[in-house]
Amino acid sequence: MEDENIQLGPDQGDIVAEAQQEAEQASSSRALYETKMKFLGRTGKITALLKGMREIAAENRPAFGKKVNALREKLEELFAAHEARMKEKELKSKLAREQIDVTMPGRKAKKGGLHPITRTRQELIDIFAGMGFEVFEGPEIESEYYNFTALNTPADHPARDMQDTFYITEGFLLRTQTSAGQIRLMEQKKPPIKMLSPGRVFRSDDDATHSPMFHQMEGLVVDKGITLCDLQGMLDEFARTMFSSLSKTRLRPSYFPFTEPSVEVDVSCAACGGKGCPLCKGTGWIEVLGAGMVNRRVLENCGVDPDVYTGFAFGMGIERIAMLKYGIGHIRSFTENDVRFLEQFKD
Ligand code: PHE
Repeated sequence: MEDENIQLGPDQGDIVAEAQQEAEQASSSRALYETKMKFLGRTGKITALLKGMREIAAENRPAFGKKVNALREKLEELFAAHEARMKEKELKSKLAREQIDVTMPGRKAKKGGLHPITRTRQELIDIFAGMGFEVFEGPEIESEYYNFTALNTPADHPARDMQDTFYITEGFLLRTQTSAGQIRLMEQKKPPIKMLSPGRVFRSDDDATHSPMFHQMEGLVVDKGITLCDLQGMLDEFARTMFSSLSKTRLRPSYFPFTEPSVEVDVSCAACGGKGCPLCKGTGWIEVLGAGMVNRRVLENCGVDPDVYTGFAFGMGIERIAMLKYGIGHIRSFTENDVRFLEQFKD
């Protein structure tokens, strides 16, 4: 029997035309692949034809097989052509989609900056390190002994109420002042002493200029023949470097249990040069720190002979110094993490 007369099946007449039509309609590589599988896959039409071979008379089988193979080859060619076309089409549209406008301005990488408290703290350390001070950091959780008792503030002393204290357990608290570090250092080191102690302190206080957590910088100098003049000389130098070359300081009498005499230190207002303005409330002066000559009782508590050695101490709020230096109105700005505020302190 002639090959031409062998029929592949009643509805298999135009498999090629059918494949051609469906392949043309496929809209993506994925769809084209699925169409290809419909014809050439393991459960596709070609496989189905080969399975039907059993029903064909034995003498016709070779011719039938040949025909199916020819059909398979045709389909493979057909799909290969469509695949190449699809690949090109998809590449073109991908290139069109990913076009880069080289004239567009690039995205700026944002640079961070140091927090104003960190900057101020660093600046303070630089100023005093230049005068020979070394940095000593005490713990934030303190015993009542270091925070109060050794600083000449016994349990019934009214000065314990001057600072509203957060107690942790009986006898332990969050330090209310970096002055606690004075005692720790003097227990470890004999005079001459020149130390600077920066750190966080805690008080239950909250308004525009007070926050329950803030930073202090403590200074302590103990040696033979130290006087209040040494204190003022160093603070003048500090004010000139920190605020303005024209800055001056003034001492006013005050009270702290651990210093005698005690002083409150004002710096001439850098905003108005001392003439009087809203910042200094018309006085020409701004209070920046507490200080005084170390009380001889405190020296005795640390085993330092007050008849041989004298010393001065000072303690300033780092937030307060930063607020004055940068004209910051509210203490909460330091902890709100508003980038618009923080970005102003970049180099
Ligand atoms: N510790 C005091 C305060 O927190 C400040 C101070 C320090 C005063 C050292 C005198 C000497 O208010």
